[in-house]
Amino acid sequence: MTNILQSQLPLWVTLQLTDACNLRCKMCYEWGENGAYHGKVLERLDKETVFKVIDECLPVKPYFALFGGEPMMYPWFDEVVQRIRDGGARVDIPTNGMFLSRKAEKLLASPPNRIWVSLDGPKHINDEQRGNGVFDAVQEGVRTLFELRTSRGLSEPKIGYTFIVTPLTHLYVKGFVEQCLDLDMVDHLSIEFQTFATEDEHQQHLQLFKRLFDVPETPCAAGMVAPKHRFEMMDFEELAKQISWVEQQCRQRGIYFVSYPKTISAENYRAYFYKDYKNLLDSRTRCHFPWIYMEVAANGDVTPCHTFYDYAVGNVNHQSVSEIWRGPKMERLRGGLRQAGGLFPICGSCARYYADPSKR
Ligand SMILES: C[S@@+](CC[C@H](N)C(=O)[O-])C[C@H]1O[C@@H](n2cnc3c(N)ncnc32)[C@H](O)[C@@H]1O
Ligand code: SF4
Repeated sequence: MTNILQSQLPLWVTLQLTDACNLRCKMCYEWGENGAYHGKVLERLDKETVFKVIDECLPVKPYFALFGGEPMMYPWFDEVVQRIRDGGARVDIPTNGMFLSRKAEKLLASPPNRIWVSLDGPKHINDEQRGNGVFDAVQEGVRTLFELRTSRGLSEPKIGYTFIVTPLTHLYVKGFVEQCLDLDMVDHLSIEFQTFATEDEHQQHLQLFKRLFDVPETPCAAGMVAPKHRFEMMDFEELAKQISWVEQQCRQRGIYFVSYPKTISAENYRAYFYKDYKNLLDSRTRCHFPWIYMEVAANGDVTPCHTFYDYAVGNVNHQSVSEIWRGPKMERLRGGLRQAGGLFPICGSCARYYADPSKR
C-alpha cells in the first residue's frame, strides 16, 4: 500500500448537501423512473455540521465535491464553497444547471473551482431524458455565467458539461458537441455511461451486505436497477466512433476531457453494457475508495462509496470524521472488501470507479 492509502483523513470528500431536486431525469438513480429517493424523508445537512466536517478535513486539503439532489438548491451553498476555498482546498460541483441564470452573480462571488453542468444531448433528446424546457434554461444559464465571468475578467468557476450515455442519448454525442456547444465557452467535458445493476446483481449484493454488515436493505443499489436488454440494443461501434471524435476535438482545443469507462472501443463499451466484466479493458482488481474517499449523505451518514452508499459506517451529526474514518465499522467494511478479494460483485456496475487510472 502506498502512503495515500494510509491517510488519517479522507483525501476526497463528497457532501450530499440536500436530497431535494427540482428535476426528475428518467435515468437518475435518485429521482428517476426507478430512483431510490421517491417516498424517502428528504434530508439536508445542517450548515454547522458541514462546516465542522470541512474544518476537520482541511489539514489534508482534500478534494471536495458538493452533491445532491441538486446542490445549488442548498440554502448555504455559497457559504460552504467559501469555507472550502478559504481553507485552501479545491471544490467541484455537478449541477443540473437550472439555477445558473438566477445565481450567476453569487456563484462568481464565491466560485467553486469547476462546475459540471449536466446535459444529455440536443434539445429534443435532452428534454426527453431530463424534462421539457431544461435544455434552453440550462444553456441560457451557462451563457449568462460565462459572459459575466468574462466581463469581470475572472477565470473561475471553470465551466464544463457532463453527458450521460443511455440507450436514448447514445447516438447524439457528436451532434451535441458539434451543434449545441460553443466550444470556446467550454473548459472541460465528461462523457459517462449510465450506471445500472440487474435485479440479480442487486439481490446478490443485498444478501452479501446483510451477511457482512447486517444491513436490512440496500435502497441505493435498488435505485440502480434497470433491465439489461435495454442496453444491449445500443450501437456500440457508432458510440465509440462518436466519443473518439469528441475526444479528438477536446485534445485539439485544450479542453479537459474524461470518459468512463476509459478505453474508447466498441468491444469495451459492449462489455460494459452487457456486464461482461472479464472483458472490460479498464477493470480493476480492487477498489481503493474505502482508504481514500468519504461520502456524507444528506442525513449525515458516511460511506466510502459514491455509487452504492448503503452501508453507513458512521454519522457526522454526532461523530467526528477521524472517529468514523478509523472506526470499527469502517474497518469492518475494509476487511469485508479485502475478504471479497478487493471488489464486491456489484462493483462492476459502477461505471466511474471501475476505471483504474494507474492502468492507463
Ligand atoms: C445525481 S446528479 C446530482 C447533481 C445534479 N442534480 C445534476 O444533475 O448534475 C450527478 C450526476 O449523475 C448523473 N446521473 C444520474 N443518473 C445516473 C446514472 N444512472 N448513471 C450515471 N450517471 C447518472 C447526472 O446526470 C449528473 O451528471
Ligand atoms: S437533476 Fe440530477 S439529481 Fe435531479 S433528477 Fe436529474 S440527475 Fe437526478
